[in-house]
Amino acid sequence: VGAAGAAGLVAGAAGGAGISAALSDDTAGAGGAPALSTVGSTAVMFHGKHQAGITTPLQSRGHLVAFDLAPGAGRKEAAALLRRWSATAKVLMAGKAPAEDTGIALDAGPSSLTVTFGFGRTFFDRTGLASRRPAELDPLPAFSADALDPRRSEGDLWVQIGADDALVAFHALRAVQKDAGDAARVRWQMNGFNRSAGATAKPMTARNLMGQVDGTGNPKPTDPDFDRRIFVPAGGAQEWMAGGSYAVVRRIRMLLDDWEKLPLDRQEKVIGRRKSDGAPLTGGSETTELALDKLGPDGKPVIPDNAHSRISAPEQNGGAAMLRRPFSFHDGIGPDGTPDAGLLFVCWQADPLRGFVPVQRKLDRGDALSAFIRHEASGLFAVPGGPAEGEYVGQRLLE
Ligand code: HEM
Repeated sequence: VGAAGAAGLVAGAAGGAGISAALSDDTAGAGGAPALSTVGSTAVMFHGKHQAGITTPLQSRGHLVAFDLAPGAGRKEAAALLRRWSATAKVLMAGKAPAEDTGIALDAGPSSLTVTFGFGRTFFDRTGLASRRPAELDPLPAFSADALDPRRSEGDLWVQIGADDALVAFHALRAVQKDAGDAARVRWQMNGFNRSAGATAKPMTARNLMGQVDGTGNPKPTDPDFDRRIFVPAGGAQEWMAGGSYAVVRRIRMLLDDWEKLPLDRQEKVIGRRKSDGAPLTGGSETTELALDKLGPDGKPVIPDNAHSRISAPEQNGGAAMLRRPFSFHDGIGPDGTPDAGLLFVCWQADPLRGFVPVQRKLDRGDALSAFIRHEASGLFAVPGGPAEGEYVGQRLLE
């Protein structure tokens, strides 16, 4: 698997786990004209060992939304809510309209829609389930460079929505919010995007708003240790999490005015990779390993000691690995003229203490990228395994 197939995280690349092309009837346009593309007709399966939206290829639109249970709502209301949400997600992911539909996505196919559900640390106290809270949900340590806004952080429940069409994604967001009814209230909500399917001539790794090829080093589903690193095994302390994963969510603002002033060669040293094609500064192509020991004519490492990709490399972190599956965000231009833009960093791992935490600890000591970013919000969520046929998400916890 080349980098373009890394963890299947190529926007718009059809195929991969749980993806099926929808009915051929749907691929014909109005009046029998040939379909414009298969972007709309691609559907992702709701049921499975793992929830959709983790190894699913990056979609071009994303919404992240956290809810808090309403005062007085407990385990019973939470179970009913997860049952409603699961039924809605299943219908929408199949490209069908739910009851009392808003009509926002009429005409469009499922467009690779995924709706993924998670539980935050506070959920377990609110529902009397504290004894079943996984130790993995212990609060993340504070990092020196954090500038976190608690109102946009954490939450009892978390929903990640992704789709290759903006109307399909927004439609799902409205349906999820409507389903919450009196049981839960939105705590925070963030919108993100990636490159549209078909924008590049061939499948390629995504770029972020700094212009870097981002996602190359991700573990790949074909790696022998992929499942062990990303998904919770059966037989653990909290059996209801078997097949699940932990999502760390960070809203990371990019200081783009400062970044864009940096000449190209310095930008490349910040990461340790070429901007044009993502290849290591030590040569080769995007998928070539970093030659971390290689010295330049000046006797210094070609990939600097503080380069982001050196510091975050699994071999520098006792094998700590995570699956990064972000969306970019842009929430307008601030009063000071700077864009409120950056990365909705979402990473997946079987245990945050063996994924995000050790890597962020090292980055926080001052990788070269730190001067150009600011962590503004944070969340940690337990995302249970995928529902079996007839089951709703989280049923093994809530019943
Ligand atoms: C690699 C950008 C934040 C962990 C990379 C690469 C880029 C990049 C361009 C090299 C290409 C690749 O392998 O994907 C960014 C930007 C960030 C950010 C722009 C913030 C806005 C983070 C954070 C973490 C992280 C917060 C985790 C704590 C990693 C890891 C790799 C990586 C694990 C792969 C290293 C390897 O396997 O060689 N990042 N990153 N990054 N980054 Fe980040």
